[in-house]
Amino acid sequence: MVSDTIQFLLNNKIYKIRNPDPNKTILNYVRNDLKKTGTKEGCAEGGCGACTVVLGELNEDKVIYKSINACISFLPILNGKQLILIEDLVYKNKPHIVQEALIKFHGSQCGFCTPGFTMSLFAMRKNYKSINNEIIEEALSGNLCRCTGYRPIIDAAKSLKNKKDQDHFKKNQNKTIQLLKKIKNIDIEINHQGKKYFAPKTILNLRKILKKYPNSKILSGGTDLSLEVTKFRKDIKTIISLNSVNKLNFIKKNKNLVEIGATTSLFEFQNLIKKYFLDFYNILKRYGSVQIRNVGTIAGNIATASPIGDTLPLLLSLDAKIVIHGINTKKTLPLNQFFTSYRKTKLKKGEFIYSIKIPLNKKNIFKAYKISKRFDDDISSVCGSFSFFIKKNIITKASIAYGGMSEIPKRALTIEKDLINSEFSENTFSRASNLIDKDFSPLDDMRASRNYRLTVAKNLLLKAFYEIKEKKNIRIQS
Ligand SMILES: Cc1cc2nc3c(=O)[nH]c(=O)nc-3n(C[C@H](O)[C@H](O)[C@H](O)COP(=O)(O)OP(=O)(O)OC[C@H]3O[C@@H](n4cnc5c(N)ncnc54)[C@H](O)[C@@H]3O)c2cc1C
Ligand code: FES
Ligand code: FES
Repeated sequence: MVSDTIQFLLNNKIYKIRNPDPNKTILNYVRNDLKKTGTKEGCAEGGCGACTVVLGELNEDKVIYKSINACISFLPILNGKQLILIEDLVYKNKPHIVQEALIKFHGSQCGFCTPGFTMSLFAMRKNYKSINNEIIEEALSGNLCRCTGYRPIIDAAKSLKNKKDQDHFKKNQNKTIQLLKKIKNIDIEINHQGKKYFAPKTILNLRKILKKYPNSKILSGGTDLSLEVTKFRKDIKTIISLNSVNKLNFIKKNKNLVEIGATTSLFEFQNLIKKYFLDFYNILKRYGSVQIRNVGTIAGNIATASPIGDTLPLLLSLDAKIVIHGINTKKTLPLNQFFTSYRKTKLKKGEFIYSIKIPLNKKNIFKAYKISKRFDDDISSVCGSFSFFIKKNIITKASIAYGGMSEIPKRALTIEKDLINSEFSENTFSRASNLIDKDFSPLDDMRASRNYRLTVAKNLLLKAFYEIKEKKNIRIQS
């Protein structure tokens, strides 16, 4: 069965929209069509958090809450979900506990950013039984305020530690679950003035659509794709969303391998990888914001082939493989054979990334660093990733990869060769780090100069050496 109508829950009512414009953002729908203008537009590119709304999603018999940037989310992704707007937080004329806290601690001045902060804090309060400073900082990392200053907002957030999650959403949860279950879980096919949007439920149907529309754009989290519309003002003619294909949302693990399905969110992945490679987790915590990681995926990050995509050097140095499915084909490719030139990959028409496989080995020593102008919610100038096997103080394997150093994320093969079979010592690393310009010839751009990149890349290798020597956060656990 197929439907041309998306359905979602707003304020205890199921909304239905037949053949909506698949290029319309949730933000434009909410402000222009629903005339609910509490949700603000600041940057329109996912960077400021003014447009934060929360989605409630059914997960077995529970609703889980995700903050997202409405400015870079296409309207059809609402299908089957609960949309929660700033206007919905007030209940019987009483502000929500999050709003009360922001008032009490003077967390607002001009107020433009306040709805976004409120929604991020609302999602945090709903998702965590107990709250600590790390959770607060993470929850707010995607929201910018230009006049209040962050201290009062953080104070307001801290005061929520003592408040129980007993709001009207909690009281209404059974009704919400019933209403969400009422929405039929079927394939979506939208046709709006020639613009098409497909959200198949199965891989079989996904393949059929890819066969018929090989030039379509695949949508995962949309944190990159949507900018074609919102920033570059283009129309996307045909979109195929992977997000309803249940079989693409998985994490499988055994003692040698972890495999991540294409639609697994970066947020879900960050909590998994923490157990195995702590530095991978540390970098993911600085990847965009919670709003971005709630929807963005590793598969999407890989497919962009961005030279500054944060997961790419890390996956390269961990010898990750990607599983690619085509209309009638399945293949597995080492990631280091996937990128061909600037933002180009070996992905052919009709193909999609099915999963990513990361090998696990207890002896693998892993370090990674992201250098950016701002700590949170910023893109790398340089990202360095280092993976070693060391036996009796001899380096038996070295996999080193950098982002931001060339037109594609790339392994440092000359340095690797120099390190292998050498003693694990300061001399060895000092010698090898001087080979950085044999592997890379980076460009000057607004983020960093060529010399800065070369110096940082070299120093990151030395940093990895010293931290491994001091046994700082290195060991894989399983
Ligand atoms: C505010 C903001 C902050 C950001 N911060 C960072 C950051 O810190 N680090 C970083 O690396 N990136 C960052 N990004 C970039 C972006 O988040 C990533 O590139 C992201 O991983 C894309 O994943 P997605 O699931 O959203 O992909 P989408 O936007 O859905 O898709 C991106 C591209 O990949 C293709 N694609 C998606 N999934 C598949 C698949 N399974 N098979 C084949 N093709 C596919 C799409 O067709 C599209 O061309 C940021 C973006 C924004 C807007
Ligand atoms: S308007 Fe800035 S993140 Fe959406
Ligand atoms: S209160 Fe003015 S931008 Fe935050």
